[in-house]
Amino acid sequence: MKKHLLIAALSVLTAALLAAAEPQPASPTEEAPAMKAQEAKVLVVYFSRSGNTGAVAKELAAGLGADSEALTEQGTDWSGVWGWITAGRAAWKEETSSIEKLKKEPKDYDLVIIGTPIWAWNMTPAVRAFLTIYKDDLKKVAFFATEGGSGHEKAFKNMEALAGKRPVATAFWLEKEVKDPEKLREKMTTYVADIKKTLPPSTEL
Ligand SMILES: Cc1cc2nc3c(=O)[nH]c(=O)nc-3n(C[C@H](O)[C@H](O)[C@H](O)COP(=O)(O)O)c2cc1C
Repeated sequence: MKKHLLIAALSVLTAALLAAAEPQPASPTEEAPAMKAQEAKVLVVYFSRSGNTGAVAKELAAGLGADSEALTEQGTDWSGVWGWITAGRAAWKEETSSIEKLKKEPKDYDLVIIGTPIWAWNMTPAVRAFLTIYKDDLKKVAFFATEGGSGHEKAFKNMEALAGKRPVATAFWLEKEVKDPEKLREKMTTYVADIKKTLPPSTEL
């Protein structure tokens, strides 16, 4: 009889312990509020004198769902033949131009993509100014350029040195490729995919 009582008591105790260990459904008021997916923030910053780099920047920002902002200069006039000559000379001499403060804050972005036309096998003075001023605000960078024929390799190397960090991806478009929608899109698809691979996957919280 004593043995039966002991077994019964142990059974009740085990059942009670198992019930306590089972996860209890949370009451509706205790549930965590639903949070939105967290996307990596990407900013496209570019300079464009005659529109090619701007056209690429626009497609790129659309492809990535990124913000974009053009660099604007004060006190320079690169228009006409004389403007072309002084622009080439300024880039060759690795000068910076005076740029207006950006409306967007580069430090708020996970990745800043910087686009430049190639001038005298180098970046433009406006992009040099941007990297000089904002380099400490850049978490990660990527570069792109448009050019007539050559110069992006040297420009990217100089941009990397100024930024003090390796770009996660680079791409360039020849002028004629910018004007050919199929070619523009073809290179864009690869560049966007390369960049997306470097971004953290969005997390549902
Ligand atoms: C002053 C100046 C210098 C240039 N130097 C080069 C060069 O060294 N190599 C090259 O391939 N293209 C050169 N180009 C051509 C530009 O890189 C090309 O037209 C570019 O797509 C212009 O971009 P944008 O329309 O955004 O200003 C030069 C253009 C200018 C105005």
